[in-house]
Amino acid sequence: MDLNEIDLLDLDTFVRGVPHEWFTYLRHHAPVYRHPEPAGGPGFWVITRYDDVVQVNRDARTFSSEQERGGVVQLEDLPLDDFNRGGRMMLTMDAPDHTRYRSLVNKGFTPRMIGALGAHIRDITVAILERALERRECDFVVDVAAELPLQVIAELLGVPMEDRHQVFRWSNRMIGSKDPEYAISDEEVRQAQLEMFMYANTLAAERRTNPRDDLVTTLLNADIDGDRLSEMDFNLFFLLLAVAGNETTRNALSHGVHALIQHPNQYRMLVEDPTLVPSATEEILRWASPVMYFRRNVTVDTEVRGQKIKAGDKVTIWYISANRDESVFDGPFRFDIKRSPNEHVAFGGGGEHYCLGANLARMEINIMLEELVKRAPKAELIGEVPRLRSNFVNGLKHLPVRLTPA
Ligand code: HEM
Repeated sequence: MDLNEIDLLDLDTFVRGVPHEWFTYLRHHAPVYRHPEPAGGPGFWVITRYDDVVQVNRDARTFSSEQERGGVVQLEDLPLDDFNRGGRMMLTMDAPDHTRYRSLVNKGFTPRMIGALGAHIRDITVAILERALERRECDFVVDVAAELPLQVIAELLGVPMEDRHQVFRWSNRMIGSKDPEYAISDEEVRQAQLEMFMYANTLAAERRTNPRDDLVTTLLNADIDGDRLSEMDFNLFFLLLAVAGNETTRNALSHGVHALIQHPNQYRMLVEDPTLVPSATEEILRWASPVMYFRRNVTVDTEVRGQKIKAGDKVTIWYISANRDESVFDGPFRFDIKRSPNEHVAFGGGGEHYCLGANLARMEINIMLEELVKRAPKAELIGEVPRLRSNFVNGLKHLPVRLTPA
């Protein structure tokens, strides 16, 4: 192999599978690699080794997430338009704005608030699984893995039952991708955003009149040194939760069950000893890396692993590669639900943007695994497992399975 074969912008490659052979090559031969861009674009740095991903992730001053510097999150520069003017998502801010904003929303994400959701999450999980088990055969992605995070976000935000299907439709549409199966136009995405904003506004108005003990009320009342969330900030946070919490958790669950089916001895180990669930969850997160990379913009000339990087350059940090770094993980291509230590970077490599929903996601995966192995001691694959056409989200579109009830 040589570097010319590597094209991380070729989405069709990702349909066939995560190009782990490229990442392995890059880690060994070009750990800080300047990847070309078509049409005379400036190119972008590709960081693939664990230590370097962590270094970049923790140095937010040098490696900025601020949207005013150009795109962040993904490689494409998103235009600054009416949609996000007047409010920003914390994902696309630097300190000190980010710090202030994050302390506001942290109030709604304390372990107590998340822990209090545990019983609800279990009820939701059991209902979803029982429905799937009645039919024996299901599409685990659509029928199970997509349902749980959607219902949990709705619960978290206190969206009334009768409105949930709308929120599902909007968030599904907004995660509309470059995959032909979904074929969602930019116009439809924009429409879904607008409708969701209007909905968030109504919900906020309702909670201002009738405060409750829930996340929305906490967020609306959060006050830090006189700071409060503006209306647009609140709308964008609503949207961020709907988007950030959905596809990620869905894919962790789907990849997890897929990996367990492909490793039946480990499935059996979980059935026999459910105390292994928490460490299985961590291995699933490492294995799946549902978010494959994040982007940053360089603010000052700097160096990574001795390679000079200039202010203004684009940098991508590849969590999916760091999570298979052989200098950190023993036998990184072995799926091992007992792996210890397992300091994966699926939720980011530390630093200020570390996933806000990490504990919630872990709880959802833990509960799903516990209830699944209790109810279905056997699971088989009964069809193809098509992948999402994306180099950003490591997605499975369908996972046809047969579940044998206990
Ligand atoms: C398996 C599931 C999930 C994965 C793999 C995941 C992954 C990530 C990653 C990689 C980041 C960026 C970290 C960084 O730049 O350092 C992030 C940030 C974030 N995640 Fe998650 N996430 C998951 C679930 C969730 C859930 C359930 C929620 C909310 C309910 C959530 C909300 C967020 C938010 C709000 C941020 C931005 C934090 C900030 O900018 O300070 N995520 N997540």
